Amino acid sequence: MESGRIPRHVAVIMDGNGRWAKKRLLPRSLGHRAGMERMIGLSEHAFDRGVRYVTLFALSTENLARPQAELDGIFRLFRDYFTVHAETCREKGIALRVIGDLSLLPPDVAETVRRGTEAAQKGERGTLTLAIAYGGRRDIVEAANRAVREGRELREEDFSRLLSTGELPPPDLVIRTGGEKRLSNFLLFESAYAELYFSGKNFPDFGDGDLDAAIEDYASRERRFGKI
Ligand code: FPP
Repeated sequence: MESGRIPRHVAVIMDGNGRWAKKRLLPRSLGHRAGMERMIGLSEHAFDRGVRYVTLFALSTENLARPQAELDGIFRLFRDYFTVHAETCREKGIALRVIGDLSLLPPDVAETVRRGTEAAQKGERGTLTLAIAYGGRRDIVEAANRAVREGRELREEDFSRLLSTGELPPPDLVIRTGGEKRLSNFLLFESAYAELYFSGKNFPDFGDGDLDAAIEDYASRERRFGKI
């Protein structure tokens, strides 16, 4: 086994912001803000380690049913991120992409997200993809409908190109923080052979050293892709 093997594509389900805030008697919105700060540091560290693609689950289609006050707080973070940090991504050579159905967001938020991703399209250092108003099943069904409209039978590779992640390689390592052990509708088709890593830490507490530990764990696994 090759030691120090770095996953090319790391995806993270950033769970536990609410519990992080609750433990500190803070409003949930501050948990999400702490999550956003950590998200910025963590993706930076991942690219420094040589990861080329980082994909983060920022908001699921199911999350859109949360109380409006909480959603408003998250939307404020999106506005901040896609104005200020999108520019930082561009300067640092990180391409910024979004997957998900932006039409489910308030129009001004969707517009800010679109403008931010347009500002940071090229990335010699890596690609950061944020899943916003994203659902894995929905993405698969949309891809299937596209295939039906094209009226031809597809092979697996062709089908995967119809997904919103079509330009990304499949994730090698999927990390979930916050203690739950499930995929919660994230990258369902794409994660078929991903290595899964679960951390009990709430996302804002998941430090750079924790990512190093996850990468180390990944490097120690033998990936056989169904072969012997
Ligand atoms: C899950 O924690 C987290 C979310 C639903 C939102 C994640 C959002 C961010 C990290 C900020 C993203 C910002 C940008 C700019 C993309 P939870 O609320 O489900 O936590 P809990 O399970 O402890 O309640």
